[in-house]
Amino acid sequence: MTLDDLDTPVLTVDLDGVDRNIRVVQSYMDTHGIAFRPHIKTHKIPAFAHRQVAAGAVGVTCQKLGEAEVMAAAHVLDILVTFNIVGRQKLERLMRLCRMARMAVVADSEYTVRGYAEATRSEGGDLRVLVEMDTGGRRAGVQSPEEAVRLARQIDAAPGLRFGGLMTYPTTAEAPAILAETVRQLEAVGLRAEVISGGGTACQFHAHERAPVNEHRSGTYIYNDRSTVAAGVATWNDCAARVIATVVSRPTPDRMILDGGSKTFTNDPTGEDGFGYFPDYPEAVMYSMSEEHGHVDISRCRRKPEIGERVVVIPNHACGITNLHDEVMVHRKGRVEAIWKVQARGLIR
Ligand SMILES: Cc1ncc(COP(=O)(O)O)c(C=O)c1O
Repeated sequence: MTLDDLDTPVLTVDLDGVDRNIRVVQSYMDTHGIAFRPHIKTHKIPAFAHRQVAAGAVGVTCQKLGEAEVMAAAHVLDILVTFNIVGRQKLERLMRLCRMARMAVVADSEYTVRGYAEATRSEGGDLRVLVEMDTGGRRAGVQSPEEAVRLARQIDAAPGLRFGGLMTYPTTAEAPAILAETVRQLEAVGLRAEVISGGGTACQFHAHERAPVNEHRSGTYIYNDRSTVAAGVATWNDCAARVIATVVSRPTPDRMILDGGSKTFTNDPTGEDGFGYFPDYPEAVMYSMSEEHGHVDISRCRRKPEIGERVVVIPNHACGITNLHDEVMVHRKGRVEAIWKVQARGLIR
């Protein structure tokens, strides 16, 4: 079976491209002595996680427990969940995961650490907890080295917990100074941050300039997409995940309608026009989407796609697309080798 035999819209993944992306980033990290812990939220498929680990990754990163459960069940056994795990139901699931895999989690509040401490008290165990620091990403994370040290001490004092180090996202240019000051203050109270984990595909090739960061987490790099091309860390050729769609209507000379809309593509912005890039029609702009229709302006295309033609779309953001598709068609040079279920799709808890 070839890609031409697949019904559309369909998410395809070029295995040669994936293997090359894995190799390039892993070898950069190896060259610089940085541990690599890929984020699986981009693919949500254990088979890809196994390829990342086989290439040299120290383990994987998950954002949600549901993703971690899928990975652990598939014997991906070293998992960092970069999320504050809050609430009884989730803490119970975390404890179950601790019996299946080597787990680490993050915390940015005394509340979260107390939850981990209480959950592990009845379990025994040795849960590693990293303190999440906001180094300019303006998302979760403690706001100062002093706060980080306070939490690290709370973690260190809890019998079932082990202070695992520091975690931040993304690894901003400001991160090294903040992290180094935190390490200094930790050492002053006798604590060592074994892992200092940064992340982001856009900044991955700067990881060697961001000491004391000693671990990096990239997610999007495995597929790449329009956003990583825009960030200058990938070329169109590196974009392994592509959607094939069919032109189902040409209501005007300058408009084509695809058989996929917002339930096939995401509306993530990239700074460029439209909701995807058409490698065979670079001037085409998907300016709008309804649920099942992609609205594409083809006024600037020299040759305009006809009804029935199949067009390739490189998504703006591969990670979002993954969560919209039940399966990916894995191919090499257009020959379909496997259909892989996106096993952690939709697992937002
Ligand atoms: C905590 C964390 N680490 C790593 C990543 C990976 O970043 P990217 O998708 O840019 O590779 C993300 C992405 O959202 C993240 O939230």
